[in-house]
This record gives sequence, structure tokens and C-alpha cells, in this order.
Amino acid sequence: MINNPNLISFIQQLEQALMNKHFVKLSLGNYKGAEDNLKNIYIKPVLIKKTEKLSFTYRYKTKDIAKNYDLDEGVSLIADYLQNGFRIATLFTSQEEIIGEYNNKYLFKVRSKALDKNLAANLSHDKEKKRKIAEKSNYLHALGLTDKDGNVFKNAQDKYKQINHFIDILQSLTKDLPDKSIEKVVDMGSGKGYLTFALYDYLKHNYNNAIDVKGVEFRKDLVDLCNQIAFETSFDGLKFTEGSIQDFDQAQIDLLIALHACDTATDDAIYKGIKSNANLIVVAPCCHKQIRRQIEKHKPDEHIQFLTQYGIFLERQAEMVTDGIRTLILEYFGYKTKVLEFVSDAHTPKNVLIIGIKKKDRDMKSKEGILQKIKEAKSFFGIEYHYLEKLLEFHH
Ligand SMILES: C[S@@+](CC[C@H](N)C(=O)[O-])C[C@H]1O[C@@H](n2cnc3c(N)ncnc32)[C@H](O)[C@@H]1O
Repeated sequence: MINNPNLISFIQQLEQALMNKHFVKLSLGNYKGAEDNLKNIYIKPVLIKKTEKLSFTYRYKTKDIAKNYDLDEGVSLIADYLQNGFRIATLFTSQEEIIGEYNNKYLFKVRSKALDKNLAANLSHDKEKKRKIAEKSNYLHALGLTDKDGNVFKNAQDKYKQINHFIDILQSLTKDLPDKSIEKVVDMGSGKGYLTFALYDYLKHNYNNAIDVKGVEFRKDLVDLCNQIAFETSFDGLKFTEGSIQDFDQAQIDLLIALHACDTATDDAIYKGIKSNANLIVVAPCCHKQIRRQIEKHKPDEHIQFLTQYGIFLERQAEMVTDGIRTLILEYFGYKTKVLEFVSDAHTPKNVLIIGIKKKDRDMKSKEGILQKIKEAKSFFGIEYHYLEKLLEFHH
């Protein structure tokens, strides 16, 4: 129940914008509430199974969490957040910017201004243009996820959700990058190409017309199938190449993805990304045998044997240690890292996404510190070497 008239008026303007389809985005900021490390919430409209929802991205100090809500639920959450910790809300409709803000005396004040013509045009253009994957896309039908009318098959719902979630994440990662910074994209271990097609479709329509996306895959049957579908759907800038990640050579890679490439194939992919100075590296690792074998062989510090003597614990340890060292190595090479949940762990335990975003300034001082952390982690867990270190030749 809101009893602040200005807040009521702000929320009504939000509801009005949603109703008239003028809503573009809303951000909540200047957080003074109790939740640790929460900084902002960014809210935008999304279409999920033909239903409009609000997608909330909760920005914490070191991670982002995305959640979707029905419109009513989303609006009441926004009202709630503005009464519990957030002190400013900026609402963009396709015509105006409306700011609701608490002043020093904790009075909620609302001000608005009409957008200048260019911004208004840009925002309404964005609104139309920023689509996720369209269910009616031919490639989804060709890949066997939808029928010819665009209805997603029952047994393809999970895959469809995963693709949408992946594109959501990519959208939040690429939205602040200039258009030209993502031209050459490589998907290492592209498999049947679901995510490669969706990524191409998304980038092509939302960011960059000259996009060039390559899938690298050692199964010839899958490469042929994907190239055939790319041809049939006129996805001219999308090509699939038969071969191994290790042998793939391309000087310019701006965005590198590798989703569920087995064991050290993820390291081979990260290596290629680092070597080509990619702006963005996004990997979802799968099986962590190399480090697991080393932990088993060299026996770690006796203090953590209670965590390594059981198969399941060892498996999870190996996963975290492998991926933890991967993030340290990315940081060493000048990447800011994030770790997110890729798909719900109800579907697969391999649900972690490691993201490296190239930083502009290299902090040389912290490099020594990172090396030290890697060294200590290896000694603690009884690891002789991490495969990615060997590839990058800085194993010590
Ligand atoms: C589990 S599938 C994942 C496919 C796709 N990335 C996805 O997430 O839907 C892994 C794919 O990577 C391919 N792969 C694994 N290691 C590879 C390597 N070293 N070089 C090329 N392809 C590889 C496999 O053939 C397989 O098709």
C-alpha cells in the first residue's frame, strides 16, 4: 500500500507507459537498503512465449542476477523497492524521461522532460529493434525446435529457454560496447548450432550488419547440417568449419563463446580468445577431468581431505578449482571476470558461465598478486599445473 501521492503518480505513469506500449526502460539507483552489495536494478520489457514480461537485472558489486516478472508483479516490486532502499528511479518512455527521487528530507519528487527528437527516435527504434529470438524464425524450425507456425515443441521448451537466457546474458554484456567492437565472433564446439544461430540472428539484427560468426566443430555431420540451414535461412555471415578448437586459427576474434566444450577444450577456447585479444570471452565449462586427476594423484593438504575423499565432493571441488583458476588467468591477462548461472541446475549440474570482459587499462601491479594466488591455490589443492597455464606458457 503506497500512501505517498508523488510515488503513486510516478507508478501510475509507469503503468500508463506499459499499457500504451511506450515503456522503454527503468532503472533504480542510489540504494540505501539492507541487501549487501546491491547497486542498481535495470528493468526492460521482454517477450516470453508471446507474453510481455519485465526483465529485472539486479546489479551487485561482482555479479548480475536476472529475473523476469509479469507486468503487475514487476510494477508492484518497483513500488516496493522505491519504499525500501532505492532513492531514485529513472523511467524512459519513448517520449519522455521521468525521474522520481527522494530529496534530503525524504520527500519523493517527480520531474520529467520531453526527450529531444533524436533520443526519442532512437529509443523507439531500440524498442522495436531489440528483439530476442523470434519464435517464428526459420532456423528454429529447421533445427527442429518449432513447428512451421513458430510453436515451440514440448520437448524443445528447455532448449528454447536456454537460448533465450543466453541471448539475455549476451544482450546485457554487449549493450555498452560500441557497434564495431563485435564483428568477428567464434563459437568453439558449436555442436548442433542452436546457440550459434540465435547469436548470429541477435547480433545481426540488433548491433552489427557486417557481423561474421563462425562455428567450429569437429563433427562433420553437424557442420554440414548447420551450413545447410545457414544457407537455407540466408544467414550469409554465419559459417561452420570442420576442425578442432586447437587448430582453429583466426587473427581477429572479438567475441568468443564455448558452451559445454568438454574438459580442456574450454581451455583451448579461452586460450584462443586471450591470444586474439577478444573483447568478450564467454564459456560454459563442462567436465573438469584434468584438475580432478591431479587432485586425486597428488593428494591435497590433509586439512581438506574431508572434501576430497568423496567422489561427489571431489567432482565439485575440481569444478570450482578449475574454473576459479580460469578466472584468475583471465584476470591476469587483463579481463574483468564474472561468473553467472547459465541454466537452472534442475537441467544440468554444469551450469556455470564464466565471462571475461577485456579491460581498457591493464593494472600491471596486480599481476604479481594474481600469480601468487594461482600458485597458492595449486599448492593447496595438490595441483602440478592447470592446462590453461601450460597453453599460455606462464606455468611456474
Ligand atoms: C556438449 S556439445 C555442446 C554444443 C553447443 N555448444 C551447445 O552448447 O549446444 C559439445 C560440442 O563440442 C564439440 N567439441 C568438443 N571438443 C571439441 C574440440 N576440441 N574441437 C572441436 N569441437 C569440439 C563436440 O563435438 C560437441 O559437438
